[in-house]
Amino acid sequence: MAYKALAGLILFMPYILWDVFLKGMETLSQPITLIATAAMGLEGIVKNEVQELGYDQVKTENGRVLFESDLSGIARSNLWLRTADRVKLLMGEFDAYTFDQLFEQTKALPWEEWISKDGFIHVVGKSHKSKLYSVPDCQSIVKKAIVSRLQEAYHINSRLEESGARYKVEVAILKDRVTLSMDTSGSGLHKRGYRVGQGDAPLKETLAAALVKLTNWSPEYPLIDPFAGSGTIPIEAALIGQNIAPGFNREFSAEEWGSVPNTIWEQALEEAEDLANYDQPLDIIGSDISHELVDIAKQNAMEAGLADLVKWKQMRVQDLNPKEEKGYLIGNPPYGERMGEQEVVEDIYQSLGRIMASYPKWSVYVMTSYEDFEEHYGQKATKKRKLFNGFIRTDYYQYFGK
Ligand SMILES: C[S@@+](CC[C@H](N)C(=O)[O-])C[C@H]1O[C@@H](n2cnc3c(N)ncnc32)[C@H](O)[C@@H]1O
Repeated sequence: MAYKALAGLILFMPYILWDVFLKGMETLSQPITLIATAAMGLEGIVKNEVQELGYDQVKTENGRVLFESDLSGIARSNLWLRTADRVKLLMGEFDAYTFDQLFEQTKALPWEEWISKDGFIHVVGKSHKSKLYSVPDCQSIVKKAIVSRLQEAYHINSRLEESGARYKVEVAILKDRVTLSMDTSGSGLHKRGYRVGQGDAPLKETLAAALVKLTNWSPEYPLIDPFAGSGTIPIEAALIGQNIAPGFNREFSAEEWGSVPNTIWEQALEEAEDLANYDQPLDIIGSDISHELVDIAKQNAMEAGLADLVKWKQMRVQDLNPKEEKGYLIGNPPYGERMGEQEVVEDIYQSLGRIMASYPKWSVYVMTSYEDFEEHYGQKATKKRKLFNGFIRTDYYQYFGK
């Protein structure tokens, strides 16, 4: 009897293996929906980036961009999106008015396709204008529903071990509509892994990349940031200029998930390596009044693998003296928000305006919260765009060169 069973198994083994292989391929190619979260005002740029990555089923909402992809989209979007905050995997959306409805509909989702049986499940939540307003209760119900689903799927009667990879689930409820997602990024995408030092008011890397992307700069042109601080804008510009994936030097949460095979990450890294253009010459200068910050910027650039690609120097903006006839100035000067700083920043803006008036072919981009910026700069901006630097509302003043 046992012999017959063994013979049968050997006979059918190729079919069994083929079936397992096909199932694996099915999971790899199944469409998934990803959510790239974006700071207020940056949704449009994040959308462009998603489309540049080749995803065309894209929907923009407040603070997020949803797009359809296959499994490789998890690795590619985490590696490449320069201006998004993080990438989440949409698990499901439904209406819920009672805890029972929340539990049942959460349990109905195929969590076992993503979460391993020893996965550590951490649920975070938010609720707005909804019947289910107690966030801690919603979190614990979602966790119970997922655990219950996994226990059934993995035939486990006891507690789940939760000693393995980490899965951060978010339950977000808005007007009784529940969105369940899992964070694939881990730390926010602004953490590129190169910032070893910083000044008092460093820009988030994602915002710095957005400031560059909002200009028409291309790497054939010179670029100067005369308020470089820890160097975020010049470093992000150099990464853009050489088409280096911003996530190349870091890890992501979903790399630990068995459900996103290593080959997916390896292929995405290989693609990033192929697309990087390390031979692209760059003419990028970062300067700042502070010696100490210039040293920090140099170290950050080193850490980003840019070595001497960006030129750094200590200089007051009052001494700015671009060599080329045409180029781009992108800067995030002091805003004068502290007591007594007003006169200092007005002088900075005036000097910048006076100097750049002699360079009509240069395009100038300045982000500040200072309301009378244009008055002191001495010229109305060609275009203004509202942007948030953290919680500070700023304007991005754009002067297009001739
Ligand atoms: C808002 S911070 C810029 C932060 C920078 N974007 C970063 O990511 O670290 C403004 C910078 O302007 C510099 N600064 C202040 N007065 C200056 C001046 N007169 N000339 C040049 N830089 C000046 C400060 O040292 C500071 O680093």
